[in-house]
Amino acid sequence: MDFKVGVIAGDGIGPEVTAEAWKVLEKVGSTFGHNFIRTDILMGGCSIDKYGEPLTQEAIDAAKAQDAVLMGSIGGNTSTSPWYKLPPEKRPEAGLLGIRKALNLFANLRPAYLYPQLAQACPLREEVAKKGFDMLIMRELTGGLYFGARHTEEVDGLMTATDTLVYNENEIRRIAIRAFDVAMKRRKKVTSVDKANVLDSSRLWRKITEEVAKDYPEVTLEHMLVDNAAMQLVADPTQFDVILTENMFGDILSDEASMITGSIGMLSSASLNESSFGLYEPSGGSAPDIAGKGIANPIATILSAAMMLRYSFNLDKEADAVEKAVEKALVDGIRTGDIMPREGDLSGITKVGTSGMGDAIADRIG
Ligand code: IPM
Ligand code: MG
Repeated sequence: MDFKVGVIAGDGIGPEVTAEAWKVLEKVGSTFGHNFIRTDILMGGCSIDKYGEPLTQEAIDAAKAQDAVLMGSIGGNTSTSPWYKLPPEKRPEAGLLGIRKALNLFANLRPAYLYPQLAQACPLREEVAKKGFDMLIMRELTGGLYFGARHTEEVDGLMTATDTLVYNENEIRRIAIRAFDVAMKRRKKVTSVDKANVLDSSRLWRKITEEVAKDYPEVTLEHMLVDNAAMQLVADPTQFDVILTENMFGDILSDEASMITGSIGMLSSASLNESSFGLYEPSGGSAPDIAGKGIANPIATILSAAMMLRYSFNLDKEADAVEKAVEKALVDGIRTGDIMPREGDLSGITKVGTSGMGDAIADRIG
């Protein structure tokens, strides 16, 4: 079959990691008889350099015309890059927030799984790491603090900045339904994370989540305050199956979850709308400090491409093949620098760069 794939390579390590994911997709295509038709789309800093803005209407239209979009990363060094001298709405991140909103990508799925082979790269205590974990963070992606009205003004002679955290019940309901649906296919537990002891938006979040839970009698719902959740993630990550949370809490907790998988270079993500369309991107950033060096870990992007096969193209067998190939490469001791064992015996371990990892995974498909 033919599938139209938009590719937003973006900035920093983005072009390097998307090149490896594309290599893997081409291998999937030749092995299983599919044709992935690539359209490159500019977004982020590279779009600023060319058009003076991080996301053009042409880019949005081009993305909408695809079956799915694969993304690398956008942005640069916030202290040194000239992109950060621009007004906030002209910076690279505004492009990413803009495309999420324009395409209504409200459901962000971030699976965090500790491969047994990476237990040594996990910063948690050995007795915690050896129990392993397999969770999925369902982050609301188009509401809350990142999209509420904001402004900075002088009030009584003092510079004063305001951000607003707004959720309506429909926005909460649709993401909660996504969380319960995916929990039904997993271990049937949803931990809804909020700050209901302080925030009104969290109290509404709890109420609506409880209403949705009534339609899923097999799923256990628990509520957890976000500060406690941050602690539980490192104290006992095994307890989590699906974590359902609002935009900013999900942003922060997913970085924390990625760290305990061994590296942020392992965490894939899918941002979905009501239909089968999705934007697939690693959860990590553009890592400008290592950009262009050929050492970034492409696994998160490759696993994001696997999510694209599964969620947008309904190609479960092909997605399984990619995920298995990643696992085989890890079992065979192939490691980028970020997931090297922290200490101990390095026999059987081969350190590779970005393209070495892409080759190793592509070679293990089919
Ligand atoms: C992420 C990123 C983005 C976000 C930034 C770059 C706007 O941190 O995808 O987690 O906060 O959503
Ligand atoms: Mg983030």
